[in-house]
Amino acid sequence: MLSERINRIQPSPTMAISAQSKAMRAAGEDVISFDIGEPDFDTPEAIKEACIKALRDGDTKYTAANGTPKLREAIVAKMRRENKLQYTPDEITVACGGKHALYNIFQSILNPGDEVIIPAPYWVSYPDQVLLADGVPVILQTTQESEFKITPQQLDDCLAAHPRAKAFVINSPSNPTGAVYSPDALKEICRVLEKYPNVLVISDEVYEHMVYQPNQQYSVASFSEEFKARTCLVLSCSKSYSMTGWRIGWTCSSPELAKAMSKLESQSTSNPTSFAQAGAIAALELGPNHEMMAEFERRGGIMRELLKDIPGFDCMQPQGAFYHFPKVSDLFGKMVDRETQLTSADVLAKYLLKTAKVAVVPGEGFGAPDHLRFSYANSLENIKRGIDRILQVLPE
Ligand SMILES: Cc1ncc(COP(=O)(O)O)c(C=O)c1O
Repeated sequence: MLSERINRIQPSPTMAISAQSKAMRAAGEDVISFDIGEPDFDTPEAIKEACIKALRDGDTKYTAANGTPKLREAIVAKMRRENKLQYTPDEITVACGGKHALYNIFQSILNPGDEVIIPAPYWVSYPDQVLLADGVPVILQTTQESEFKITPQQLDDCLAAHPRAKAFVINSPSNPTGAVYSPDALKEICRVLEKYPNVLVISDEVYEHMVYQPNQQYSVASFSEEFKARTCLVLSCSKSYSMTGWRIGWTCSSPELAKAMSKLESQSTSNPTSFAQAGAIAALELGPNHEMMAEFERRGGIMRELLKDIPGFDCMQPQGAFYHFPKVSDLFGKMVDRETQLTSADVLAKYLLKTAKVAVVPGEGFGAPDHLRFSYANSLENIKRGIDRILQVLPE
């Protein structure tokens, strides 16, 4: 009954773990969640108020498929003000979240067999969304030793070996690793990409506001006007303004790609929710939430100190986003009780959930089976309690 296409993909592993930990909590268990991919801060009041006002004013009808003119204007203004990038409203496509924006891109550009270069560890949805669009993900492996960053040479070799590459995905700050490419490193990557002008550069910048000192955010679209023209940026209200449930994201791309994605939306979702778009305008006008960012930076530093002291964990300094991605493979092969041998990150994550009641995401779904992902979108108290519980159930 089901299509070959739908059978090609897996449910999102991060959403699966969250469902499991939520169910345990609903059953009365005291589960500490380090699996969450969303800020634990509420959406600011001014944003909620703008949405409520829109509802009261009757802003409850279909909108343009690619977003209301007002929101696209507000995005153009935000991109100019904060990102120092000039776009026109016909280059902006609003979608139901960054995830939907990425889905639209792959559906709009890929023919069967076209390849997409994806550095690993990657955000879980890239490969599956490529598969859904009949494309082929080509994974470029990185390790913690290189701070999970690809080298220009690695990218050059990969592109030379893959003449069918249609797109390259870069995600900085990164989910799951928290790595942030320096402006110089990104410029070197742009120089390699200049040799391959037919490759669309997809830059996922949904964590653009979450960059910790001394790291700096840099968008590859800033490299040059020509480079901007062959780049598609993906941004979102979700993380920057604590609006994950609102489902508003957008792309900045060539007008040709924007038109294609708008056509796709007109035949699929019709439009992002009208009153959520009104809230998004208020969010963009409000600007980055510096208090929230400072709190994430503080928690990230404290959590790293605690993780470092867990025998068998190897964890790098946080650079951005709100995740740690320690290497835990030194624990593989160890017996933790009579029946349980820690054979993989997946087994370790299940063991921690069962015995310590701590939810973390195993690295397999991110293309990094030696790692576990810990989100620090949780209170300091819970971070301390959670790590303490882990210490108690792991071998010395
Ligand atoms: C790297 C990355 N890109 C895109 C998204 C999509 O976010 P949203 O669809 O909530 O805008 C996420 C969400 O976790 C993410 O981590």
